[in-house]
Amino acid sequence: MSGLVVAMDGPSGSGKSSASRGVARALGLRYLDTGAMYRAVTWWMLQQKVDLADPQEIAARSGEPSLIMSTDPDAPGVSVDGVDVNGPIRGPEVTGAVSAVSAVPEVRRRLVTLQQEIIAESLPAGGIVVEGRDIGTVVAPDAPVKVYLTASADARAQRRTAELTGTTVETQKAEMARRDTLDSTRKADPLAAAADAIELDTTPLTLDDVIAEVLRFVKERA
Ligand code: DC
Repeated sequence: MSGLVVAMDGPSGSGKSSASRGVARALGLRYLDTGAMYRAVTWWMLQQKVDLADPQEIAARSGEPSLIMSTDPDAPGVSVDGVDVNGPIRGPEVTGAVSAVSAVPEVRRRLVTLQQEIIAESLPAGGIVVEGRDIGTVVAPDAPVKVYLTASADARAQRRTAELTGTTVETQKAEMARRDTLDSTRKADPLAAAADAIELDTTPLTLDDVIAEVLRFVKERA
């Protein structure tokens, strides 16, 4: 029996992570945070003092770090070469550098392959909710349910500020705008809604509303 794949794409602060985990819990599916994978590789590159201004050096080292993902929606996580990096990958250093690393095609090829393997492994047990920027377009183009979440710039910055300490809405708005531009204008697999994705503006919605909407789409499409 083949399982269900739910692709959840959108920019940061659109409510993707909380909604994806909630949908996975409600349906008894696995959950994969692909952003955590790009962050973990970026953390490793920073540790190794790779010159992040040099895409060729990033490409040459991209096969070295070994990633293990937890796909439990109640305890998602990533380790690199056996080190739990869930804390450091959310810090400002990694957040500031991740767009440069995730723009390198060799990094993307390797992580997309790994993501597709994790998806395939989840299918016999029912399936998986996968969140990212290119899930509906590149990683799982055949997913029966594709959702593209958006939210106003103010709502996104407010949500992100509430998750962090020592920052302001204005700082987060500027940082998000910078990352959005880099993520959506890069050549390799830019942030984009798939043609067959359902777009959902989460600005006026609570988390429970977003989860309920996605579950409704799943019922319709799957
Ligand atoms: O979702 P996030 O903020 O944790 O993602 C971190 C970065 O990783 C984001 O700036 C873009 C990149 N990313 C990507 O290029 N492709 C994905 N599927 C997921 C994230």
